[in-house]
Amino acid sequence: MTAPVRIAVTGAAGQICYSMLFRIAAGGMFGPNQPVALQLLEITPAMGVLNAVKMELDDCAFPLLAETICTDDPKTAFSNIDVALFVGAKPRGPGMERSDLLVDNGKIFSSLGKVMNEVANPDVKVCVVGNPANTNAYILKANAPNLNPRNITALTRLDHNRAISQLAEKVGAGVPDIQKMVIWGNHSTTQVPDITHCNVGGKSAAGMVDQAWARDEFIPTVAKRGAAVIDARGSSSAASAGNAVVDHMASWINGTPEGDWVSMSVPSDGSYGIQEGLIYSYPVVCKNGDYEIVQGLAVDDFIAGKMKESEAELREEADAVAAMT
Ligand code: NAD
Ligand code: LMR
Repeated sequence: MTAPVRIAVTGAAGQICYSMLFRIAAGGMFGPNQPVALQLLEITPAMGVLNAVKMELDDCAFPLLAETICTDDPKTAFSNIDVALFVGAKPRGPGMERSDLLVDNGKIFSSLGKVMNEVANPDVKVCVVGNPANTNAYILKANAPNLNPRNITALTRLDHNRAISQLAEKVGAGVPDIQKMVIWGNHSTTQVPDITHCNVGGKSAAGMVDQAWARDEFIPTVAKRGAAVIDARGSSSAASAGNAVVDHMASWINGTPEGDWVSMSVPSDGSYGIQEGLIYSYPVVCKNGDYEIVQGLAVDDFIAGKMKESEAELREEADAVAAMT
């Protein structure tokens, strides 16, 4: 029998996990032939709710779910794992920016980063979801020097999926017709959704829409979509975020289709002139359980300027958390 992939998930009693865990246990992340074991971490007051989540996972009788561990001990959660999904963090409310969460949530990532450093497998693949996701990943990376830094990533797949959906609706195409979407930068309102390289059914998307739409409607709609969901729902996106985490990991593990890529926030290696070490969203091609930043894309002055603004915001966030890194 195939050994299960062991997945630590923090914040496992929260909103995102209430949809995401069931997708993972059903095989959505690692495929229909790969058993999974869930190592679920919560703070002590949430253990009752977490146990209810376990009861519901049990009640689904998922054939691929080999084991579910519920714990409030990070060492237990992070031992023997292949993957760690860092969801546990405060969400923002109406009128807040994600960076307003930095002081409270940053502490979670410095303390859990230290535990990861002590007990986790150095090659563990990490996806940070809790906001502000890029800088929380930056904090985690700084506190876990024993881990392979390339494998510390943050989620911008939700933005990537939002961008595909907006473009598909605008041009009257199906989602599968859209290829080569890019999200550059931070998972914040400075992010840069970029259709320059997109194909729609093999044709250039840039030739199918007005530049004014791309700049003045598409970019702000995607960049402010999180706030729009909060205004409409009263709390932040949950099912679509969980879906994006499943997509992020599935692409990383199983690879991206020929002729396409996905957006992932990864430690910058200096590509496109972005400061090395910042966790920055790039287009990446995934293959054999690894990723490569897509190189050599033409970037016009408008997009380049916005990419720099998003980098500047990440530098400011990094400065603000210098004491934690
Ligand atoms: P939630 O409040 O419903 O759940 C968060 C859970 O984390 C809670 O159950 C809480 O007890 C737990 N938690 C807090 N501190 C913890 C710790 N130290 N260890 C383990 N667990 C801890 O929130 P949610 O809606 O699930 O959102 C979680 C985070 O994800 C928020 O920061 C939100 O802003 C962010 N988010 C990011 C994206 C993205 O695209 N990157 C999308 C949606 C939401
Ligand atoms: C999102 O993009 O939906 C999340 O980051 C939640 C938020 O605060 O917007």
